[in-house]
Amino acid sequence: MERTLAIMKPDCVQKKLVGKVVDKILENDFNILGMKMIRLTKTQAEAFYDVHQGKPFFVELVDFMTEGPVVVAALEKENAIADWRTLMGATNPAEADEGTIRKLYADNVGRNIAHGSDAADTAKREIAFFFSESELL
Ligand code: RTP
Ligand code: MG
Repeated sequence: MERTLAIMKPDCVQKKLVGKVVDKILENDFNILGMKMIRLTKTQAEAFYDVHQGKPFFVELVDFMTEGPVVVAALEKENAIADWRTLMGATNPAEADEGTIRKLYADNVGRNIAHGSDAADTAKREIAFFFSESELL
C-alpha cells in the first residue's frame, strides 16, 4: 500500500467543503491514516512549498495557505499518489476533468481546494512534515 498527503486548503475549509472532499476520499477507497485541522504559520508554509521558492506565484501561495485553517490528511491505498491527484484534477480547474474535486469546487489555479503529493519521496517528506508515525493509525 502506498501513502500520500492530502491538504484541504483554506478555501476548502472556508467554503464548508471538507465533508464533501472527505466523502470523495472514502468513496474512492482510500484509508485515512491520520487527519487534523491546523493553521499553518508563514514559516511552515514556506518550508512545505520550498520547491516553489522564487516562482512568481510563491508569495501568493504562502499568503493563501496561511489565510485560515487547513485540514491535512495522510491517505493510504494502492497507487495512492496518482489516484489522489487524479481525483483532485488538474492544478488549474479550467483544465480539470469533469467530476474532479478541483473542477467541481475550485475558483482558479491559485485557490484550488486541495493539495496532493506528487511522488513517493515527496509523499514521505510531506506526511512526516505533519504527522509522527504514532499518529498514523
Ligand atoms: P499542489 O502542490 O498544491 O498539490 O498542486 P499541484 O502539484 O497541482 O501544483 P504545483 O505546481 O505544485 O503548485 C502548487 C500550488 O501553487 C499554486 N499555484 N499557483 N498562480 C499560478 O500560476 C499558480 N501555479 C501554482 C496552486 O495553489 C498550486 O496548487
Ligand atoms: Mg505540487
